[in-house]
Amino acid sequence: DDVLTILKILMIGESNVGKSSILLRFTEDEFHDNIQNTVGMDYKSKKMSIDGGTVKLAIWDTAGQERFRTLTPNYYRDGQGAILVFDVTDRTSFTKLDMWLTELHTYSNKPDIVKMVVGNKIDLPNRQVTTEEGLQFARRHQTLYIESSAKTADGIMCCFEELVQKIIQT
Ligand code: GTP
Ligand code: MG
Repeated sequence: DDVLTILKILMIGESNVGKSSILLRFTEDEFHDNIQNTVGMDYKSKKMSIDGGTVKLAIWDTAGQERFRTLTPNYYRDGQGAILVFDVTDRTSFTKLDMWLTELHTYSNKPDIVKMVVGNKIDLPNRQVTTEEGLQFARRHQTLYIESSAKTADGIMCCFEELVQKIIQT
């Protein structure tokens, strides 16, 4: 059998931006309007074919709400990729990305962790953050950038593929 490379990926960002929904779309190809807020941490794994090989993604999802968060340093330990999610219809969730980056850099033990900023919920009409603003933020912090909808599945596969490509190249 081939030896599987396992990559640990972290999902972070404010509550309700759609972290768990992105993960559910990616792993099960499902979307739930009534998904529960995450309490503590959640974990899902998925195999992915990339560059003719297979990697196993170990994806950790945490609560955006402070009162539901536990064991932050354990969560971040050995993460090779981080997906920072904001909601394009919620400006505050975009502004808070600075805080999430600071937290990531505080707890991550990998200075070269690969980061992907995701502007989610692009299926909704009432946008408060433009693509240009998202791209500017990503450029300033040297992260990847993509926009997505967990509801329609737009951008979801690309998000994980591009992140994994970059991790493998690093
Ligand atoms: P916490 O677990 O509290 O940190 O929240 P979360 O970031 O995991 O958000 P969650 O996935 O629970 O989604 C919050 C709400 O937004 C739910 O009602 C979802 O159905 C909805 N939602 C998530 N992604 C999308 C999307 O792309 N489009 C639309 N229209 N709604 C979405
Ligand atoms: Mg969640």
